[in-house]
Amino acid sequence: MTVDLVLKDGIFIENGRETIRSVAIEAGKIEGIYKHGEEPQRRDVIDCRGLYILPGLIDIHVHLRDLKQTDKEDFESGTMAAAAGGVTTVVDMPNSDPPVLDKKTLDEKIARAHESRHVNVGFYAGIPHIIEDFDVQMLRDILGLKVYPHTPLEKETKYDKNRIRDCMKLARASEIPLLFHPESTAMRKIPRDMEEFFLSHSCESEVNSLQSFIDAKVEYEARLHVCHVSCAASARLVHKNRAEDTLTAEVTPHHLFLSGGDFTHEDGLAKMLPPLRSPHDNLMLLEALTQNCAIDCVATDHAPHKKWEKTAPFLKASSGIPGLETVLPIMLTEVFEKRMSWIDYLRVCCSAPARILGLESKGILTKGYDADIVLARIQERTISGKEFYSKAKITPFEGRRVLARTVSTIVGGNVVFRDGEFVLGPGIAGMVPVHKS
Ligand code: NCD
Ligand code: ZN
Ligand code: ZN
Ligand code: ZN
Repeated sequence: MTVDLVLKDGIFIENGRETIRSVAIEAGKIEGIYKHGEEPQRRDVIDCRGLYILPGLIDIHVHLRDLKQTDKEDFESGTMAAAAGGVTTVVDMPNSDPPVLDKKTLDEKIARAHESRHVNVGFYAGIPHIIEDFDVQMLRDILGLKVYPHTPLEKETKYDKNRIRDCMKLARASEIPLLFHPESTAMRKIPRDMEEFFLSHSCESEVNSLQSFIDAKVEYEARLHVCHVSCAASARLVHKNRAEDTLTAEVTPHHLFLSGGDFTHEDGLAKMLPPLRSPHDNLMLLEALTQNCAIDCVATDHAPHKKWEKTAPFLKASSGIPGLETVLPIMLTEVFEKRMSWIDYLRVCCSAPARILGLESKGILTKGYDADIVLARIQERTISGKEFYSKAKITPFEGRRVLARTVSTIVGGNVVFRDGEFVLGPGIAGMVPVHKS
């Protein structure tokens, strides 16, 4: 047979070890993995000597903005950032303007993403204040329900016991996970100083809200996914309550590798929620990710803001940082410096996020799976925000030494990014919206 494309003689990870293999792609799927000289006939070939052939990252927590916030990010710049970063699937959060609480807004976001996509884009929806207003028609096109107890998408909503119960019941009836930002339900006033800011976003608040959501998850038998775990104590609490796939959790690269003390109090560039914690938390989160598997996966929480919103002093700055173009080099550097195994990398960046959202044909490079692939190479360099395709170019990882670079990105068998350049144009490669398989 003649296949569409062969990625020839790259470094391929088999049973956790590096070996030389070729990957054949036919009709958007992986047709097979071949030893040198055994490849099928093909219409096109990419010489992958010296390059790693890896599954594209799956980032289940991004804010691509768009609609009324195209000045922060739009689906084109956001999915270009993903492709250039080696991320082939992103799942977009509903806290946009307007928020995704109704089918009309969801459909608008899907249409915008569809016409400007460079990678696969999935969606979450929020839950309206009056739960009966939730439009079940949205379920066809979303992968989960997201709640923000500290800043509800509708201001009048309070995350008390009854509200949490209603959300759990809706998630359970819908057979999709409830994702939540673990922070106390109490409505807070705007912090007057640093002390108030850190008090209102404390580990205690993270742990307390986590406990109440876990209790409700058990009571109503829902599936709960914990966003951006940031504290050692919350990782411990997740570990204690692990129960197969009914409780899952993610951690961001910044909560793994940066701590609050790395930045000054005047600086808004590293302001995000949850805030950076201590070096002890960094270590315990990494352990939870790789040693005891309390945390399933890495997600970036890519949260772009305008330049002036990040250069403002800490208390006035907006919370959130871009992450799509730093995750692959940062995580692969852990592998190349032998602090993380290939098996852990492939699980936490690719297969676990696919499993959490039920994307059964993604996250692994094997016959029959989607051909969502990144070609990467070892290259020592420093992170530089001005190279980003994201509109947000201010990163707390600026100047960090890394050992990897994305060379090419393939989405559904289409080469979208080749040798550092976009070669296909928007609206061609990628599924929008991503559905459960
Ligand atoms: C996110 C944003 O800007 O949308 N900000 C952040 O600091 N992480 C919201 C969120 O993920 O809670
Ligand atoms: Zn959040
Ligand atoms: Zn343990
Ligand atoms: Zn977020």
